[in-house]
Amino acid sequence: MTEPKKLFIKTYGCQMNVYDSERMAEAMAPEGYSLTESAEDADLVLLNTCHIREKAGEKLYSDLGRLRPLKTAKPDLKIGVAGCVAQAEGDEILRRMPMVDLVVGSQAYHRLPEMVRGPRHAVETDFPVEDKFDLLPARRAKRGPAAFLTVQEGCDKFCAFCVVPYTRGAEVSRPRDRILSEARELVAMGVREISLLGQNVNAWHDDGLGLGHLIEALAQIDGLERLRYTTSHPNDMAEDLIAAHRDQPKLMPYLHLPVQSGSDRILKAMNRKHTAEDYLRLIDRIRAARPDILLTSDFIVGFPGETDEDFRATMRLIETVGYGMAYSFKYSARPGTPAAEKPTLPDEVADARLLELQALITQQQRAAQNAMVGRETTVLYEKAGRLPGQMVGKSEHLMAVHVTDPTGQVGDLVRVKVTAASTNSLAAEPITR
Ligand code: SAH
Ligand code: SF4
Ligand code: F3S
Repeated sequence: MTEPKKLFIKTYGCQMNVYDSERMAEAMAPEGYSLTESAEDADLVLLNTCHIREKAGEKLYSDLGRLRPLKTAKPDLKIGVAGCVAQAEGDEILRRMPMVDLVVGSQAYHRLPEMVRGPRHAVETDFPVEDKFDLLPARRAKRGPAAFLTVQEGCDKFCAFCVVPYTRGAEVSRPRDRILSEARELVAMGVREISLLGQNVNAWHDDGLGLGHLIEALAQIDGLERLRYTTSHPNDMAEDLIAAHRDQPKLMPYLHLPVQSGSDRILKAMNRKHTAEDYLRLIDRIRAARPDILLTSDFIVGFPGETDEDFRATMRLIETVGYGMAYSFKYSARPGTPAAEKPTLPDEVADARLLELQALITQQQRAAQNAMVGRETTVLYEKAGRLPGQMVGKSEHLMAVHVTDPTGQVGDLVRVKVTAASTNSLAAEPITR
């Protein structure tokens, strides 16, 4: 018998890191580790990091600083750095922070158990030939009714601003059969909604078949009621995937399709390989397939060379599309990326553009939320709400919904009528039960 130990994981960054953290916890379970909510009673602390913008990367070092007294008081405590900063900085992290015991990159965390058992200051940041998913425990831990499932990893697009191709490596698709068996495993544990994950999830392919086909195959699984996927690149939005939005009722009417900018000049400098017009035509095709689809995007403002005219083009694109929600970022120069060589804009200019863009997005988000009032939707209950008799979950359009339902249970999929809306959530009453 292994001695019981506690593991604390802090997850930064994107949903794929959330998924990786779950898989790391599952990998450590046979070693006797169970999860704890606080670093104070942990024997092992893992920081699963993000490198996407400068601020995200710095967070690791401020959190390590905060853990230092704990490590001093409890020298047996092991501290591991995982994820994209680990991948990007490797043993540099140990040089800067000798309190760290191990560094494990995004593609090597199946080796975590042996690293934790082994000597201090281990570093694994290669892109191993073996597939980590084949070596991780197939048994998935018990979870809520909505789960993530990584189907594709890495990126070959090399947008000029982005570190992901360096931190996650080349585009790799997991085989269809493994994905289907993992999905069945999740459904057997009570999962009713799966979000397929990939840095370029819509580039997924196996044996000449694309993501639309995979969604069709997953939709056959009994008990799996809802499917989503993220994040997509406009250039990989194939016809079979667009058709799936028309033909697969289990595929939710929601699409995160980042465009970054509405200026062709900037899109070119970003190496996005599409124009604003290409994107708008694509949106038309998607909306023709699924008229009620809710679209969301990511935007970067203040990319090197962005003029006021470029920024106006982005604002016009947002007006034309009408988004349900969007993430927007001030450009952050990342070491090793091509754009980092170019002079940046003054902070005040980028800050002012970001505020203006966010105001427009908030206005569109509010309009999309308000438009739901009086309409019906389906909600998957994920947890009890703060008020008695209240359940909280996501609508088909991925909006947070508070439902007054005293007999509701986590995992119920309930038809509701929306009674009120705020910018970030909806209130609703059940209509079938
Ligand atoms: N694979 C996805 C998203 C990857 S990162 C895609 O292609 O869209 C998530 C978002 O972070 C990006 O869409 C982009 O808007 C933002 N981002 C990436 N690098 C950035 C940088 N250097 N500065 C500011 N924002 C950045
Ligand atoms: Fe980064 Fe571009 Fe790849 Fe998205 S498509 S992960 S933004 S390089
Ligand atoms: Fe961050 Fe890595 Fe995801 S850099 S956004 S955690 S792929």
